[in-house]
Amino acid sequence: MSGFEVVSGGPLTRPLEGTVHVGGAKNSALKLMAAALLAPGRSVVHNVPHILDVVVMGDLLTQLGCGVEITFPDEVDGTAGSGSGRVVIEVPEDLGHEAPYHLVRRLRASIAVLGPLTARCGRASVALPGGDAIGSRGLDMHMRGLVDLGARVRIEHGQVVAEVGPDGLHGTSLYLDFPSVGATENLLMAAVLAEGHTVIDNAAREPEIVDLCQMLVAMGARIEGISGSTLEVDGVRRLTPVEHHTVTDRIVTGTWVFATAIAGGALRVEGGRAHHLELVLDKLVGAGLSVDLDDAALTVRCEQRLRAFDVATLPYPGFPTDLQPFAMALAAVSDGTAMITENVFEARFMFAQELARLGADLRTDGHHAVVRGVPELSGAPVVAHDIRAGAALVLAGMAAQGRTVVAEGHHVDRGYPWFAETLAGVGAGVRRLEGDPVASG
Ligand code: UD1
Repeated sequence: MSGFEVVSGGPLTRPLEGTVHVGGAKNSALKLMAAALLAPGRSVVHNVPHILDVVVMGDLLTQLGCGVEITFPDEVDGTAGSGSGRVVIEVPEDLGHEAPYHLVRRLRASIAVLGPLTARCGRASVALPGGDAIGSRGLDMHMRGLVDLGARVRIEHGQVVAEVGPDGLHGTSLYLDFPSVGATENLLMAAVLAEGHTVIDNAAREPEIVDLCQMLVAMGARIEGISGSTLEVDGVRRLTPVEHHTVTDRIVTGTWVFATAIAGGALRVEGGRAHHLELVLDKLVGAGLSVDLDDAALTVRCEQRLRAFDVATLPYPGFPTDLQPFAMALAAVSDGTAMITENVFEARFMFAQELARLGADLRTDGHHAVVRGVPELSGAPVVAHDIRAGAALVLAGMAAQGRTVVAEGHHVDRGYPWFAETLAGVGAGVRRLEGDPVASG
């Protein structure tokens, strides 16, 4: 059990000041680790964030027969650290094909081994994942796509089981009903070793997909249309191992930008790539935030209460669902009324109930929320239900008069290396609490 304590005098009373460094993207690094399975030999993934999910994915690869060595820097570097490290993966010729429930339930991203194992081993048995409490998160598109590529796929005893006949996987035309990130990744990783030509239409185009494509191409895969919504793949017989640097985490970058918008002040976000957050930054600039860009960083400044703005989450390049809780927290203390629409994960509004405990004036109806800004929130004990909700509650606490305690802080640690330490390093009244923070009052 752990949590976070936030002490504040209300919005703009304790402005942030300094520099934060953003490391590799969690949502990319975990998939790149799975992609390493596609080539026997030694692959290295650099710029991997120092978070538990990377260790769990490492355990899963070990279970599949790989040698895995994870190295993180011992200390936070500079004023506030990115904590990025590297993972060395030795992939054997003969891979195991079973991903057991006790590992998969700790990490939804482990479903990303389904495509690689089906392609490499001709069979895979991957437990149905658990993961964040933010929605049903179906797998129908992953499974249908593998069937179209020539696998037999069924659900048996809580496992997704895929089997390929003696002819192997074969190229085909795939159309995704929705540009699912997970399904695009799995089908891409299966298609690169399938015989012939595969087209994935309505593919996701998140920067993390582009990152995965770039690693696969460096391994010898033949992929056209990278960063577009139609990916064309010519299968190859064998891929070779690589060293690859994980793309910077756009959601962590966005989190530090929202932190400044909520608490006020000036923050230099090193490593942050503005072009991965174009829509988000446009909205924030329209609301009154100032943003300066240089080659290495983006610097944000906020001196006054921002104007409210509407948000509707959509696949990239739309407004990211992972930043929606931060937009809601900001709307709670902005000038005016905001309509927030969640189109990707239906259960994400559990967060709204916690924000209301801090005095936010909001109403939800289905996947819409109307938030009327109030001058300040009021500190209270709240509970984090997932990574982003937890981090957004900490930021909301920075605009809440008094003491806010966020329980279940372990969720936040899954997405942010050194979350409390980084915020404290730039002047926020945030510290980590060990034990049961609610019981300890
Ligand atoms: C999603 C986000 C991604 C984010 C990640 C981590 C989108 C489009 N995707 O990716 O940007 O980094 O969460 O929080 O914003 N679905 C099905 N059937 C399927 C696959 C998906 O119904 O076979 C549904 C899911 O239930 C969900 C939606 O499609 O409602 C998005 O799924 P998907 O993009 O695959 O989710 P993630 O890969 O987790």
